[in-house]
Amino acid sequence: MSKLPIALAFAGGIAVAAGGWTLFSQKPEQRSSAALMDVVMWNKEPIGGSFNLVDHNGKSRTDADFRGKLLLIYFGFTFCSDACPTDLQSIGAAIDRLGPAGEAIQPLFITIDPEKDTPEQLRNYVALIHPRLIGLTGDPKQIRAIARDYKVFYARTSPTKPTDPGIDHSSFVYLVDQDGKYLGYLPPGTPPDRIVEVLLPHLAALPQT
Ligand code: NI
Repeated sequence: MSKLPIALAFAGGIAVAAGGWTLFSQKPEQRSSAALMDVVMWNKEPIGGSFNLVDHNGKSRTDADFRGKLLLIYFGFTFCSDACPTDLQSIGAAIDRLGPAGEAIQPLFITIDPEKDTPEQLRNYVALIHPRLIGLTGDPKQIRAIARDYKVFYARTSPTKPTDPGIDHSSFVYLVDQDGKYLGYLPPGTPPDRIVEVLLPHLAALPQT
């Protein structure tokens, strides 16, 4: 009798260890969702970095190409039926509401599923969201590097139903200034009006051309 709880505890420990190992073996450098969220929320570490990726037209793009623009950067994947389409549409709606002033803003969608999100796949997707949206992909190593710089959490999960795309990810909207410097973030689900409100003072502070 007394051995049973120990045996159960032991089996539980193995299950936890095995679960931990799956995560660990996939992405050795990846921290937990909560740990990364904490970094972003409380600005505990520098956020942002350079990248060299491929856009939805197959053209090479680096962060330096976007100097002079205010960037709204979103990490996700095209098969996501959850936060991604909603947040990206809110970004598009905010840009539309800004009218001509919105041209100083460049929205970027960086895929965290580069195996499936080829330039062609991204091209079809961004066309459905907003004409100004640029989709970016790259090899998995490049994507891991930029996601790590932005403290983005993403991990494969075991799908529970056929409609579950099997990827978990954090979905902050990152705001980066005209010199490539990280300014701050908007939480998932931020409505267009609030995005506009956040952008206006930054647009007003842009050097006049
Ligand atoms: Ni998503």
